[in-house]
Amino acid sequence: MSEETLGGRFTFPGTSLTVQRMGYGAMQLAGPGVWGPPKDPSGAVAVLREAVAGGVNHIDTSDYYGPHVTNQIIRQALHPYPAGLVIVTKLGGRRPPDGSWRRANSPQQLTAGVHDNLRNLGLDALDVVNYRVIGSGHGAEEGSIAEQVTVLADLRRKGLIRHIGLSNVTAAQVAEAQAITDVVCVQNLYNVADRDDDALIDDLARQGIAYVPFFPLGGFTPLQSSALTSAAGRLGATPMQVALAWLLHRSPNMLLIPGTSSVAHLRENLAAGGLTLSPQTVAELDGIAAAAVTVKH
Ligand SMILES: NC(=O)c1ccc[n+]([C@@H]2O[C@H](COP(=O)([O-])OP(=O)(O)OC[C@H]3O[C@@H](n4cnc5c(N)ncnc54)[C@H](OP(=O)(O)O)[C@@H]3O)[C@@H](O)[C@H]2O)c1
Repeated sequence: MSEETLGGRFTFPGTSLTVQRMGYGAMQLAGPGVWGPPKDPSGAVAVLREAVAGGVNHIDTSDYYGPHVTNQIIRQALHPYPAGLVIVTKLGGRRPPDGSWRRANSPQQLTAGVHDNLRNLGLDALDVVNYRVIGSGHGAEEGSIAEQVTVLADLRRKGLIRHIGLSNVTAAQVAEAQAITDVVCVQNLYNVADRDDDALIDDLARQGIAYVPFFPLGGFTPLQSSALTSAAGRLGATPMQVALAWLLHRSPNMLLIPGTSSVAHLRENLAAGGLTLSPQTVAELDGIAAAAVTVKH
């Protein structure tokens, strides 16, 4: 796979970290419900090795996937890591024994989380750490994140973290964090059907900050749309490939981390980096979110 077909390259602002825009999200490698070991551990290792062999050099993870399991699989599959591989992890959550997703954002929990990631990934420093806000429900909600970002900035000064990102945040929270430290990426929910972050993406693009959508394929509820299906038919592609290609077309600061536990799906997703969409197709796909908004209201 050539570097251009993986969506071209992007350099995180103010860093020496350059990645292909088509990356890989490792959340699907844990067991069902992102809990415990996968049903097929050697299959999980194979997916990671195939990703790197295919040119992926940006992997998204968290130590609370599994918990610990996903990072341990990444280490098993890829350590010692190839030069240029950027592993981005996130802090702010924990998984109690009932499998729920809970907040873990005290200074002690964030510090312990950095050490958990370092140990399980087998690293001396983490390339990029996102502070993931877990609010009272789903989605981003307002509220100060200054305390948590300050903790991460301190850990960065100590050399345990190289760069800081944010996840599940509002524009006001991004601005608040930027007053404390440099922010290199923002990871929020966004896809062709869910475009609440359009203005934020454009603002981050102006600043050269990466926007990394989670649930690019709809996450636990895979995207389904007649517009995706008909565009896919015309292009000789799959609807999922068209959804990924649309994201790459959306903005030059868009980095993709589609998740999969399947080598076949991984290959399909990476190939989407080479799809070109005509302006007419983009316009048709833009209609998906407009229709979804109408349904929501
Ligand atoms: N910051 C956050 O709060 C947050 C939240 C969620 C996720 N994330 C990150 O974002 C990454 C992406 O999100 P995600 O994995 O939850 O969702 P996603 O990428 O939108 O979709 C993953 C789902 O789509 C399926 N899939 C993948 N490729 C496919 C294909 N070509 N054809 C058909 N189905 C396909 C996968 O199943 P198969 O395994 O069967 O392929 C899986 O069920 C995660 O891996 C994680 O690293 C971050």
